[in-house]
Amino acid sequence: MNQKENRISKTEKKLENVSKTVFKDWKYAPSPESTEHVKIAPRYDLFINGKFVKPESKKYFDTVSPSTEKKLSEIAEAGEKDVDKAVSAAKNAYDKTWRKIPAKERAKYIYRIARMIQERAREFAVIETMDGGKPIRESRDIDVPLAANHFFYYAGWADKLDYAFPKTNPRPLGVAGQIIPWNFPLLMAAWKIAPALATGNTVVLKPAESTPLTALKLAELIQDSGLPEGVVNIVTGFGKTGAAIVNHPNVNKVAFTGSTDVGKIIQKAVAGTSKKITLELGGKAANIVFDDAPIDQAVEGIVNGIFFNQGHVCCAGSRLFVQENIAANLIEKLKERMESLIVGDPLDKNTDIGAINSKEQLLKIQEYISIGINEGAEIHQSSCALPNKGFFCKPTLFLNTSQSHRIVTEEIFGPVLAVQTFRTIEEVIEKANNIPYGLSAGVWTDKGSKIFHLTSKMRAGVVWANTYNKFDPASPFGGYKESGFGREGGLHGLSAYLTI
Ligand code: NAI
Ligand code: MG
Repeated sequence: MNQKENRISKTEKKLENVSKTVFKDWKYAPSPESTEHVKIAPRYDLFINGKFVKPESKKYFDTVSPSTEKKLSEIAEAGEKDVDKAVSAAKNAYDKTWRKIPAKERAKYIYRIARMIQERAREFAVIETMDGGKPIRESRDIDVPLAANHFFYYAGWADKLDYAFPKTNPRPLGVAGQIIPWNFPLLMAAWKIAPALATGNTVVLKPAESTPLTALKLAELIQDSGLPEGVVNIVTGFGKTGAAIVNHPNVNKVAFTGSTDVGKIIQKAVAGTSKKITLELGGKAANIVFDDAPIDQAVEGIVNGIFFNQGHVCCAGSRLFVQENIAANLIEKLKERMESLIVGDPLDKNTDIGAINSKEQLLKIQEYISIGINEGAEIHQSSCALPNKGFFCKPTLFLNTSQSHRIVTEEIFGPVLAVQTFRTIEEVIEKANNIPYGLSAGVWTDKGSKIFHLTSKMRAGVVWANTYNKFDPASPFGGYKESGFGREGGLHGLSAYLTI
């Protein structure tokens, strides 16, 4: 190193140290989103045939805010009779109105719903965050806009089905029974309802028991939109309510997103019936970083891939594969970045990691963390303090993990990342594919040829290159193997609701 180079290197070191100290001492003033504009009723009934009706079961359950542990509202629990009412309303609406309305009229209703979601975006975002615990930044910038976009996108297809599927005479299936999870409550409702309506089906939808509020707000919005009665019915409850929808003889199509265990139960339940089915289940995605990748960008992508939405993402990049020669450098940068992540009040606009969705889920994550420690992996957590109330988890890394570890092969659904290293592309492809899941993956490299080589060999429904967790209504999403089958989004998402 000559004198000049030496000087430059010393200056760079100094600057790096300065930025590290500034980073550490940097405090953000709290910036909580206001909740005053939001109306949450003390009690919600079932949305059947265009009206809110009391459950025949006479039962209600509480939905709580996972960040404060406070009760937000009481929610009706639909029993078999209630589900039967909802399915009858949907069947009636299908036979008498919805299938007879011209396709371009159907499109108008779907557009209207999209526009109304945009108009009430702030309210939806705040309620999503209160009920589910995700940071307001995400519900505001991702969940709600994407939900509106799904309605816009499918509204556009409603009167063009003959062009989408030429010479096949595409026809609707009838009543769609749709069951959704708690990680993207409004967005999953949009993913399910929009293509079903665009193709001329009617709907009975059940949101998850821990996050029913935005689906019920959507029911209010649908009522205001003037959509004919019974076209969309929203019934709340637990797994039993979901099972009643799946098993109802007048349901023609079942669409489910949730755990692989429940997916298997549902698949067995519809076997031997004429019901059409799509399952979008768990995942354990590999995020693969080669030594020619832009490291800082990759670190952001890794953080976004696993800590985004507390790791409550079926396509979360929960397994990190780093090429051996850059592993030490990348891990150091990743640990540094983790230190700067803000964990806490999800309504605060600065928060990066909000509350874990429920106490049960937090316990599950904590159990996996102790399994990881017992399996001999090296744990690293950021030093942040957690709030006293609510369900929170520190962003967690496990180093020195191997294929035989449970934390590497099982879905944790929390902010926990298992790190492995690799030397060659063949080795990483084999390791990444060696898993029962196949939903998504990520690859970071400067070389287009490596991207194509890898994407053609990965058994994953979605592969992101030099980015992670990007969604668009036009691109199909879904998995291989135990991650389920069928695609949602794009043209593929339409065909799941049609006979062609
Ligand atoms: P879950 O699969 O039990 O719940 C998903 C939905 O299915 C909820 O609406 C639930 O009420 C309903 N349901 C439950 N049992 C049913 C049945 N027998 N028939 C019909 N519907 C039924 O998921 P859970 O228990 O909330 O989470 C457990 C694990 O599942 C998580 O830790 C995570 O690993 C995984 N999961 C995966 C999701 C994904 O997007 N792939 C979403 C949520 C959870
Ligand atoms: Mg809740």
